[in-house]
Amino acid sequence: MAHIDAKSIDTSGFAFVIRNPDPDESTEILELMRQLDSETEYMLREAGELKMTPEQERHFIKKMLDDDKSLFIVAEAEEKVIASLAFHGNHLKRYEHQGEFAMGVLQAYWGRGVGAALVRTMLNWASENSIFRVVLKVVSDNYRAIKLYRRFGFVEEGRLIKDRYYPDKKEFSDSIIMARIKF
Ligand SMILES: CC(C)(COP(=O)(O)OP(=O)(O)OC[C@H]1O[C@@H](n2cnc3c(N)ncnc32)[C@H](O)[C@@H]1OP(=O)(O)O)[C@@H](O)C(=O)NCCC(=O)NCCS
Repeated sequence: MAHIDAKSIDTSGFAFVIRNPDPDESTEILELMRQLDSETEYMLREAGELKMTPEQERHFIKKMLDDDKSLFIVAEAEEKVIASLAFHGNHLKRYEHQGEFAMGVLQAYWGRGVGAALVRTMLNWASENSIFRVVLKVVSDNYRAIKLYRRFGFVEEGRLIKDRYYPDKKEFSDSIIMARIKF
């Protein structure tokens, strides 16, 4: 079971809690995802593209909590879920030492250490669970995210040319694969 102990954090006067989400929070988590999708181009989906129902999201949260190779954590501040990180592991023996994650913080809360706290929590959990290789994909001009990942020891492993397409702008962008390998 990928459960963590809830952790209270205070970065220069800004207080928040890192914890697992509860399946009963599925509606709130979907609202967070929709807001993240509409606030930046760096998430996976176009604004409005997320079609999951609260029941499907409840099932997803439960599945993540029951999976000992995956981790789903959120940050809560001012009685609101403001960020999330989902790490997906692998159960095949040849790949169970690794996994991939994605994350997002609501724009109003950027630059307060929330992203760093989520990454730190995930990496601690990964090393306690014999997961040594952590991978992510980031848009090549997402300098804020790249800086954060570098700070935690992620290095560039490769570049995916024209990996994304933005229908509104009719433009492509490259993605960078980053990984952190720590035994
Ligand atoms: C990337 C993201 C997760 C960072 O979260 P955050 O809570 O703002 O992160 P933190 O406050 O912990 O740290 C941000 C770091 O970026 C730095 N930063 C701030 N503004 C920056 C900018 N314009 N360019 C580059 N780096 C910047 C900060 O200095 C900080 O680094 P430091 O701790 O070394 O000083 C958040 O901006 C986000 O959700 N963005 C949109 C979605 C996204 O990009 N997700 C990642 C997809 S791979």
